[in-house]
Amino acid sequence: MMNHQDTKTPRTWCLSVLVVAFIVGFAGCAREEVAVPTPDQRAKLLTIPDEYKNRANPLPANYGNLTEGRARFEQYCALCHGPDGKGTTLLGRSLYPPAGDLTLPQVLKYTDGQLYWIISEGIRFSGMPATRAYSTEEQIWRLVLHLRQIQRKQ
Ligand code: HEC
Repeated sequence: MMNHQDTKTPRTWCLSVLVVAFIVGFAGCAREEVAVPTPDQRAKLLTIPDEYKNRANPLPANYGNLTEGRARFEQYCALCHGPDGKGTTLLGRSLYPPAGDLTLPQVLKYTDGQLYWIISEGIRFSGMPATRAYSTEEQIWRLVLHLRQIQRKQ
């Protein structure tokens, strides 16, 4: 006849298997996490009104729009983000938080509408300015086209 100890062992074994499966499962999820926004970006996404998420760029990525987008980027954004968007300028690096690298995957994940909102409204408590006061909607959409262009070149 089995004593108390014997009946307990398979149960303990079973429990260990479950715990290991759980940990391995979680490790798998953690690896997937690369595709998920960083906590910092999540905070920024929270400030962007939902209705902007699905706004598509009304302008085509043609030569004229891209040329104007680039010229505007060089005039108004390169000071901090650098002409290549990588944020490696002296001023960009001296800000806290520093001016972001606009070619990173996390920036690529913003929708066009979310990028529009960031450029128009700026990012609170950071050096990222709201450009709405000195930009038309079209000028901002051209900047979004330009950002997509420099991200594609990576
Ligand atoms: C005075 C410096 C400065 C200028 C000029 C500037 N930015 Fe920024 N920008 C920043 C900083 C600083 C951040 C990072 C803010 C943060 O991480 O919270 C930022 C963040 C951003 C982001 C979001 C990046 C991310 O990782 O979430 C975008 C997009 C962006 N800027 C686009 C532009 C565009 C387009 C222009 C030109 C119209 C511009 N910025 C002009 C300083 C600047």
